[in-house]
Amino acid sequence: MGRLSVDFPLIFERSVPGRWGVRPPGCDVPRRPLAELLGAENLRAEPPQLPEVSELETVRHYTRLSQRNYGIDIGFYPLGSCTMKYNPRINEKVASLPGFTHAHPLQPESLSQGALQLMYELQEDLKAITGFDAVSLQNVAGAHGELLCLMLIKAYHESRGEGDKRKVVLVPDSAHGTNPASAALCGYTVRSVPTDSQGNTDLAALEAALSDEVAAMMLTNPSTLGLFDQNAPRACEMLHNAGALVFLDGANMNALVGVVRPADIGFDCMHLNLHKTFSTPHGGGGPGAGAVAVARHLEPFLPVPRVVYREGRYALDYDYPQSIGRVHAFYGNFLNLVRAYAYIRAYGGKELRHIAEFAVLNANYLLTRIRHAFPPAVDRLCMHECVVTAQHYKQHYGVRAFDIAKRLLDYGFHSPTMYFPLIVPECLMIEPTETESKQTVDMFANALLEIAREAMEQPELLKNAPHSTPVRRLDEAGAAKNLVLRWQGKVFYPSEVPACAC
Ligand SMILES: Cc1ncc(COP(=O)(O)O)c(C=O)c1O
Repeated sequence: MGRLSVDFPLIFERSVPGRWGVRPPGCDVPRRPLAELLGAENLRAEPPQLPEVSELETVRHYTRLSQRNYGIDIGFYPLGSCTMKYNPRINEKVASLPGFTHAHPLQPESLSQGALQLMYELQEDLKAITGFDAVSLQNVAGAHGELLCLMLIKAYHESRGEGDKRKVVLVPDSAHGTNPASAALCGYTVRSVPTDSQGNTDLAALEAALSDEVAAMMLTNPSTLGLFDQNAPRACEMLHNAGALVFLDGANMNALVGVVRPADIGFDCMHLNLHKTFSTPHGGGGPGAGAVAVARHLEPFLPVPRVVYREGRYALDYDYPQSIGRVHAFYGNFLNLVRAYAYIRAYGGKELRHIAEFAVLNANYLLTRIRHAFPPAVDRLCMHECVVTAQHYKQHYGVRAFDIAKRLLDYGFHSPTMYFPLIVPECLMIEPTETESKQTVDMFANALLEIAREAMEQPELLKNAPHSTPVRRLDEAGAAKNLVLRWQGKVFYPSEVPACAC
């Protein structure tokens, strides 16, 4: 973790009137008054409040700011359910090739053959990985993929004259919050299905929830408990027998890639978080890519245009009369598709399964090291992440999972996901990913075990953590509810410079 704890001024506080960093090139066109060019009504009455700083000050300021950031390139980032794994540099290199970065979405197909070929081949790769019959790359996030799949399911039921009847979507109680939200956004009524004592879908409860009103179930496998849902095949059968379809939330595909093809389990469709499993940057709020893969019976409804290969040419095909239309401008977040393609091809077919194998191995190794101090929510082998509870420390020492997460920052680690899934009390959800070495996983396990000891011996230390970060405990609810993203102070101008401004 960047341990630069010395405070430094805001760039606005460094501002000195008249100081500048770059000399813009001289004007090489005839000068005309701005009011004439833009319209007097569009001109500012006052200059914008911009800091006046030298180039060196600017470089130092932003370099120091970047050192305060925490990212996968700095350290271990075990944020469960987020698959914060290393993004190989080759992806960036390929995504910055001028042929891709300069491509315009409106340029003719004849000049876009390379880009279209990449999209087509990525579709084919994802078909092979998932076992499904067709893929769309248009949606740009996991949640967007959930919504898209539900729209396809809705179109499917409508095409069979059952749209008005099937109004319910079943969602397990362990699901990611985006699942019920997507179902509600698609106009469905959401009903929760409980998880059984082994962390699988409760089949008896599922049986009781089934009726001819059910349009679909949204299942996550591995579940958000980090467990393979052993009841998934039977659940798919039961839903199909009731005339409903099953969507797989494939955000956790990192545990299955190259080993299990979701179509073989019986799912009808799924989304893939390309920005997790296939390593495009994630977690920093950057653009995502959330391809969906579907079985033959949902294919006619996929968004248009679809990327096809016919008579030796790649093309965009709009001729799908049952398509639900577009779900995004143009063709998705293209450069993330390039990154995912580069990642898949760098591994190659057979090697892809190493992703899942090492992700699962790392998570189980970590769990084995910490389970005596942090017991798993369900006592089973885990998949790519382990979900443990810190309830013991809360009950006996008043130390919460939150405090443990904060204390980890002092040890130089990003915290795991906390309090999710909601069904596990004082939950820590830890996903080491396959790109971490045994040494790193050991260092993290050692830190957690040390923190467990501190929780028992010096609980106050944890309750006030972190101690070494530039800012301590923040008002997170306040920050979320009252976002202040703009500098609201004052920049001084020559006439009003206070004596101490330099
Ligand atoms: C299980 C699960 N489903 C869905 C999503 C939603 O994906 P996105 O953040 O790309 O919308 C996530 C995101 O973390 C997830 O973990």
